[in-house]
Amino acid sequence: MEQRRFGDSDLTCSALGFGTWEMSTTQYGEIDVAEASRAVHEAIDHGITLFDTAEVYGPYHSEELLGKALGKRRQEIVLVTKVGFQIIEDPTPRIGPRNSRYEHIVARAEGCLKRLNTDWIDLLLIHWPDHNTPYDEPIRALEDLKAAGKIRYYGVSNFAPAMMAAAEKAGHLTANQVGYNLFDRRVEHAVLPYCQAHGIGFMAYGTLAYGLLTGAFTPETTFLDWDWRSHGSAFGLPLFEKHWFLKELKVVERLKGLAAEYGRSVAQLAIAWVLRQPAVTVALVGMRNSRELRENVAAVDWKLTKEDEAEIERIFQEEGVPTYVDARQAL
Ligand SMILES: NC(=O)c1ccc[n+]([C@@H]2O[C@H](COP(=O)([O-])OP(=O)(O)OC[C@H]3O[C@@H](n4cnc5c(N)ncnc54)[C@H](OP(=O)(O)O)[C@@H]3O)[C@@H](O)[C@H]2O)c1
Repeated sequence: MEQRRFGDSDLTCSALGFGTWEMSTTQYGEIDVAEASRAVHEAIDHGITLFDTAEVYGPYHSEELLGKALGKRRQEIVLVTKVGFQIIEDPTPRIGPRNSRYEHIVARAEGCLKRLNTDWIDLLLIHWPDHNTPYDEPIRALEDLKAAGKIRYYGVSNFAPAMMAAAEKAGHLTANQVGYNLFDRRVEHAVLPYCQAHGIGFMAYGTLAYGLLTGAFTPETTFLDWDWRSHGSAFGLPLFEKHWFLKELKVVERLKGLAAEYGRSVAQLAIAWVLRQPAVTVALVGMRNSRELRENVAAVDWKLTKEDEAEIERIFQEEGVPTYVDARQAL
């Protein structure tokens, strides 16, 4: 498995990372926990060394399940988690407002360590920018957690360049984690160039556009009402609104055809497309069974040609599907 480095740090990981939002059981379709735990082990056997979770996935379930599934193998991997929300415990935990205050970040990190059953977190991220707190305040907390040996590296998620610049007044970011896939290219305008210029690693989430780029959906597909995709919007873009969803499926059908010319799947094409970007350190994919895992791992060595990339652009243009790459949409 190809290894990549986070910006100018000495932290490296596999180009494909294992996402565990799906393990939360309350936001992302149904899950077979035993099967997902087996996939975690199989992923390590296939050379995946980065696992991504967050305290709000569940809340808590994803961290707990991942911690249990990893067991002693935790030492073999780069463990990434995220804090920065209040969790309202009344009595079932649910996600509250963003909170990046110093004391909150320090306190929440302790909970992550417990649930993940580990003494250290390799990379702790601020999940979403809290616009009511100076962006460098949580970085001071992360610096102190690092000095105490509780985390090895830190970074942010969903931060625009100006927010990264403000955050870096308190310390150097190892990573920014933001959505990036064929249907959502907003980061190409400013975030990716900024990360590359400032030695910050980039973690792409939603590599498969949350299942769209897998060929698993049809015009008849509907989501359970507690599945976040049932709301139509995907991180500010209307990817699951009926009008766009139907058009996107046509793109996916044609991308399937292109992938099939190489004996590949559309999911593999989507992963190879994200990894073609030198600024990308790791493409995160949410996987929960062996079949998905094996298919995704096999995508990493596929290098798309310039002709393939041009054909992809032609398909988007002909189907009239936007990629949100222009300045107006930039994150
Ligand atoms: N920082 C943030 O704000 C943020 C936001 C979103 C995600 N993330 C992280 O990024 C990770 C990846 O993003 P994501 O999971 O939301 O989206 P994604 O990876 O684009 O899509 C995940 C979906 O793709 C399906 N899938 C995966 N491999 C497949 C294959 N080979 N064939 C068919 N279907 C396949 C899975 O389907 P099934 O459901 O059928 O198994 C899964 O539900 C998350 O797990 C999370 O760790 C971070």
